Amino acid sequence: MYRDGHRTGATTRQAPGVTRLILINGLRPEMSADLYADVAEQLRAQGIDTVVVNAACDQLPDMRPPDLVVSNGALPTGFVHHGTIHAGRSVPRPESMRWIASAGITTMDWTLARTRREVRRLFAEWQVDRLILKPSFTGGGRGVRAFSRGALWRIRWHAERDIFCREVNPEDGTVYKAELFNGRLMIAWMSRARPLRDHFTHGVYKSLRGAYGERERIDLPAPLSDRLCALSRRLMAVGLGYVSVDLMRRPDGELVAIELNTRDVAKWWTRQFPEFRERYAGALAELVRGSRHTGAGHAPTIGISTSGLRNPPP
Ligand SMILES: Nc1ncnc2c1ncn2[C@@H]1O[C@H](COP(=O)(O)OP(=O)(O)O)[C@@H](O)[C@H]1O
Ligand SMILES: [Mg+2]
Repeated sequence: MYRDGHRTGATTRQAPGVTRLILINGLRPEMSADLYADVAEQLRAQGIDTVVVNAACDQLPDMRPPDLVVSNGALPTGFVHHGTIHAGRSVPRPESMRWIASAGITTMDWTLARTRREVRRLFAEWQVDRLILKPSFTGGGRGVRAFSRGALWRIRWHAERDIFCREVNPEDGTVYKAELFNGRLMIAWMSRARPLRDHFTHGVYKSLRGAYGERERIDLPAPLSDRLCALSRRLMAVGLGYVSVDLMRRPDGELVAIELNTRDVAKWWTRQFPEFRERYAGALAELVRGSRHTGAGHAPTIGISTSGLRNPPP
């Protein structure tokens, strides 16, 4: 993943023991390099030694324990750093949905199911003609499917990891996103979409691609925003970094969470909102200053694994 190549970033030598920020960008450089260069420049202007590593083409610098590593994606297997890391990783859906709920955020109705009989009962319990199955470790709508009662026999799933849910609102397919970092709301936006019933009535509908249309910035209600920030603080404490929460609007108007994205959260598109870069750089600067106070390397770190976090957030 990290090939030989030139290194972007600070060239100044810094005394050991002083926090250096290593920003790892796992997104395609042509989509994101300018965003990272801009953010790094803002941080350097505040006296923070910042090194940007484009994972696709740059070499990793030699790490020192006080270095603070922030990666927008998952780190490669075998990556070792004896200091603080905030990075993306895959988390099974049941676990991440519980984290959202434990931060006091309302979620969509969802459940695990062991047998087809249990799934059949859900149609009656929720009084719906179709259900949605969301497998763990999928993204971008791929793998998420809707199905009608008659097509249940065609559905296969993993009983512990994959979740069943009902539509938040059969009249409305619009998806909302809240992007979070270091206990702060970076940006909230919506992507208008037609409801499921416009494309699907019965059988199995594969790949529910939601939030990929035209995007619009939005303001979230303050109580929801506060809870999302509290969730972000907890996730930072267990080594996660930039995350986003997908939401949809219930018929009663309440925004409810449908997903927590903890890996490869695509923030490159936020170039269309100029104030975003400043806000993200500000949150990174706060993180660096916080780790100077606590002493980087003493914050909790967790093992790098692709199977999700073993411990729930505190
Ligand atoms: N409970 C739900 N009600 C209606 N649509 C949903 C629901 N859950 C997911 N969807 C649709 O499916 C899309 C993908 O689901 P999501 O949980 O965001 O998975 P991912 O983005 O990882 O593929 C969403 O963007 C949304 O359009
Ligand atoms: Mg999603």
